[in-house]
Amino acid sequence: MKIPFHRPDLPQDLNEIYADSIRNGWLTTGSQVEKFEYSLKEFFGSKHVIAVNSCTAALHLGMLAKGFKPGDKFIVPTHTFVSTVECGEYLGMEPIFVDCQKDGFNLDLNQVEDLIKKDPKIKAIVPVHYGGIPVDMKQLMKMSEKSNIYILEDSAHALETISSAGKVGNTNHAAAFSFYANKNLTTFGEGGALATNDSDLAKKVKNLSLHGITKDGWKRFEANAKWEYDIINLGYKYNMSDISASYGIWQLKQINDWHRKRTRIAKTYINELKNIDGIVCPKADTYDGNAWHLFVIQIDRSKWNISRNKIIELLNDKGIGLSVHYKPIHMLDYYQKKFGYKPSDFPRSKSLFESVISIPLYPNLTEEETSYIIDSIRELAHLHLN
Ligand SMILES: Cc1ncc(COP(=O)(O)O)c(C=O)c1O
Repeated sequence: MKIPFHRPDLPQDLNEIYADSIRNGWLTTGSQVEKFEYSLKEFFGSKHVIAVNSCTAALHLGMLAKGFKPGDKFIVPTHTFVSTVECGEYLGMEPIFVDCQKDGFNLDLNQVEDLIKKDPKIKAIVPVHYGGIPVDMKQLMKMSEKSNIYILEDSAHALETISSAGKVGNTNHAAAFSFYANKNLTTFGEGGALATNDSDLAKKVKNLSLHGITKDGWKRFEANAKWEYDIINLGYKYNMSDISASYGIWQLKQINDWHRKRTRIAKTYINELKNIDGIVCPKADTYDGNAWHLFVIQIDRSKWNISRNKIIELLNDKGIGLSVHYKPIHMLDYYQKKFGYKPSDFPRSKSLFESVISIPLYPNLTEEETSYIIDSIRELAHLHLN
């Protein structure tokens, strides 16, 4: 059997998606993007959504629009993808890394609190809802309010996540989402959005997402519209195309159904894998509000006679696509050279990195495929546990 790590859903008839864009002859940012932004606003319950061409772009603009200066600092988890850190570095800001919480993948809020108390140069926090698991946003907001610190939620995995502060995306700060190829919703492989209730921030991000221009391209070319425009900021070319938005609109209609399907698969995995010695599963009852973007198992390395990487290799040989989320940022070459980190500086993240395996989790994963994955892991444990 061949089971890819991710397999996107497509409609029976692709024309169903493109129809409006093709009919009106406008392929780039236009009415479909506006419609997609509106649907996302409804979904998040937020006042504003700006669609862009990646989550990295949304994170960048979410920081840029706040006017931070080189030398300002921002807190990020080391256990993340590099975009979380790049967004502040693009502005010359200094990232301050924190380790994972004691019993989980998200950032340790105790470490965050200590850092905020000590350092007035910390201007922002970019928490990550790892795999869709909610960060305790109520607690984080409470901590940051006292010091007037901005929170930009890296919600790349968290489209459906509900945290202690409510639906992710419905925030007076900002949240950035990814519509990359393997995310819970994709806009033809690349895309992203920033959601916020802050009207000033939204206005700035919108302007910066297209060259700092005063008018959308499509409005300039509409019949009877004025051709004239002005540039009021140094902006970027980060806009989303109508073709991408069309796919997003179609996907968003299925999102609750897909979330239910992933939740069901996650529960099956937990029920079947939790009793295998040497495998640590997510604890289902503590995962309320989880978007279930990833299903991550941990290998108790003391119990196996083969390495985590060998386990991945053997499961790959059985046709199962897998991944590892993440190699911590402080262990990546550029960050080691730039900041002089040692792998042991953030021991919880390092230990997770060495023991995790992400297994397939998507709505069109069949029961037969789910059983095959479970049986393959069980068989491997039978052969290779000490
Ligand atoms: C946690 C996290 N943040 C940000 C990103 C960047 O998303 P994009 O590829 O849409 O820029 C990713 C991408 O996988 C991610 O996993």
